[in-house]
Amino acid sequence: MQIYKVGGAVRDRLLGKPVTDIDWVVVGATTEEMLAKGFRPVGADFPVFLHPKSGEEYALARTERKNGRGYGGFIFHASPDVTLEEDLIRRDLTINAMAEDDQQNLTDPYHGQRDLEARLLRHVSPAFAEDPLRVLRVARFAARYAELGFTVAPETLELMRQLSESGELEALTPERSWKEIARALMEDQPQVFIEVLRECGALKVLMPEVDALFGVPQPEAHHPEIDTGVHTLSVLEQAALHKQPLTVRWACLLHDLGKGLTPEEEWPRHIAHEHKGLKLIKAVNERFRAPKDCQELALLVGKYHTHGHRALELKPSTLLELLQSFDVYRRPQRFEEFIAACEMDARGRKGLEQRSYPQADYLRGAATAARSVAVQPLLEKGFKGPELGEAIKGERLKALKAYKEAAPA
Ligand code: CTP
Repeated sequence: MQIYKVGGAVRDRLLGKPVTDIDWVVVGATTEEMLAKGFRPVGADFPVFLHPKSGEEYALARTERKNGRGYGGFIFHASPDVTLEEDLIRRDLTINAMAEDDQQNLTDPYHGQRDLEARLLRHVSPAFAEDPLRVLRVARFAARYAELGFTVAPETLELMRQLSESGELEALTPERSWKEIARALMEDQPQVFIEVLRECGALKVLMPEVDALFGVPQPEAHHPEIDTGVHTLSVLEQAALHKQPLTVRWACLLHDLGKGLTPEEEWPRHIAHEHKGLKLIKAVNERFRAPKDCQELALLVGKYHTHGHRALELKPSTLLELLQSFDVYRRPQRFEEFIAACEMDARGRKGLEQRSYPQADYLRGAATAARSVAVQPLLEKGFKGPELGEAIKGERLKALKAYKEAAPA
């Protein structure tokens, strides 16, 4: 049997990038031989094994044929007579379809190295279309390697367009899609992921609510970039520049969905877009079964981001409502993430990327003031149950009034 390093490990070594996990392909072996060498099978009908010591993935060279919609519908053919070239041709991109032996001799039948130099994400063969998840993967690679100057080859973009129009994307499971989305959002240029999805028509299928923001104007006084879609991409870009976590990036992407519902006669104003957007945010959250913390923050940011921007003008009672909605007493981190998302929203505007955001410290101070109310003295006064709750709220309101009065105008 011959063993080769394949996929991302070869690609990233040639790009001079750190290699984190290594995938191996084994040519000329049977399942029985692998088991005899102590490899552990990963799945019942998937010819992939884990190395007994390193735990790395070793796959038998295989050909694949699609048999029906979605990811379940694959027929694998793994046998000792499948060649390395046959295994590589079924892979997604030429830069992912190179193999290397233990002497670092490269097998590159589909010119991955040429495309690495040309900075092109190009599909290997029509077999690309057999896994629609590849549309998201290419967009993710475009986001990751944008800083190196990579773009999607026109013929690959065309194939992605056909796949998006064919209805195949709808067959993806929420789990597979979310994994790609989450990884893409955590790249340094996540806005490129959304741009590429939009360019090939996949955004319209996956997140029509985000796609609908392009072409929707906002008032120039607050939004010099005018277009809501462009603004959303800038907010996402700022979130990445400021190294925000996934929760914040997800909330940034969805914060203005309500603006896509504004009737044209009301443009460029978007009255109550925060509230109108909530059902759309909920729908996108549920479509991809986003993790609970992402779902929650996206809804809260959608509902309250304008409160964040107006923090210094809010009445103490409104400030209190905001803090209560976030349960800032038990969930301080979530409130920090809300503040971060608001700040990214404020900076994700043309020419305003460097602006200061005094609202952030003001909100933090308000949370500290409300949190400093001690419960013990109220218990000692004999408050219980709902009355105790009201008494605590009353004290917090007093604390916020004092905070607001003391804050510099
Ligand atoms: N692959 C593919 N189509 C997919 C998934 C994977 O063709 N839908 C192939 C590619 O050759 C890829 C390899 O399997 O390089 C390994 O896949 P994976 O580990 O998911 O990706 P990497 O390319 O290693 O990329 P990353 O750095 O993002 O992990």
